[in-house]
Amino acid sequence: MIIAIDGPAASGKGTLARRLAARFGLRHLDTGLTYRAVAAAMLAAGADLDDAEQAADFAENVDLSELDRTTLSAHGIGEAASRIAVVPAVRRVLVERQKSFAAAPPGAVLDGRDIGTVVCPKADVKFYVTASRDVRARRRFEEIRAGGGSLGLEAVYDDLARRDARDSARSDSPLAKADDAHLLDTSDLDIETALSKAVDIVEGVLNA
Ligand code: DC
Repeated sequence: MIIAIDGPAASGKGTLARRLAARFGLRHLDTGLTYRAVAAAMLAAGADLDDAEQAADFAENVDLSELDRTTLSAHGIGEAASRIAVVPAVRRVLVERQKSFAAAPPGAVLDGRDIGTVVCPKADVKFYVTASRDVRARRRFEEIRAGGGSLGLEAVYDDLARRDARDSARSDSPLAKADDAHLLDTSDLDIETALSKAVDIVEGVLNA
């Protein structure tokens, strides 16, 4: 069983992916963290983020076995990740590594931007999770505040707008809904309601 979940930043896809994985006993990979891990390794080594060949080397060699969400969620790492994520050679390497993760038993939930379209086009179930930018900015703002950060709501909104534009406009594997993905708009849904809708859909597929 492979479940593919795509959507923009702060749409709720990560939480949904973790909860679905726990519920159905599947492994989980947040593919955003794989791009972040490459960016973090390059930043730590003082490498040039615009050097495509070097970036692909880092993508081959970075350890993906222990992705630390807390360290990797730093704002600067997210910015650097979105820059190296436009490099086709980096994407080729990471997509292969993500496919291997998905192929291992007993199955997996992967979340990202191109899972249903590129990484797992034959996934058993696909979701495209989204929410209005206002709602996503408010969620991200609350998260940052809960973590002790002090970025203003307007700055968070502008940052999301920039990230959305970069993720959707790149020529290689832009953020997109697969034709056969179930659309889940979480603008007016809390996580429990979104989860229960998603569980119903997965169970429908399992029982088909
Ligand atoms: O979801 P996130 O913020 O952790 O993702 C970090 C960056 O990686 C973001 O700019 C989008 C990019 N990304 C991608 O291009 N493809 C994926 N499958 C996952 C993330």
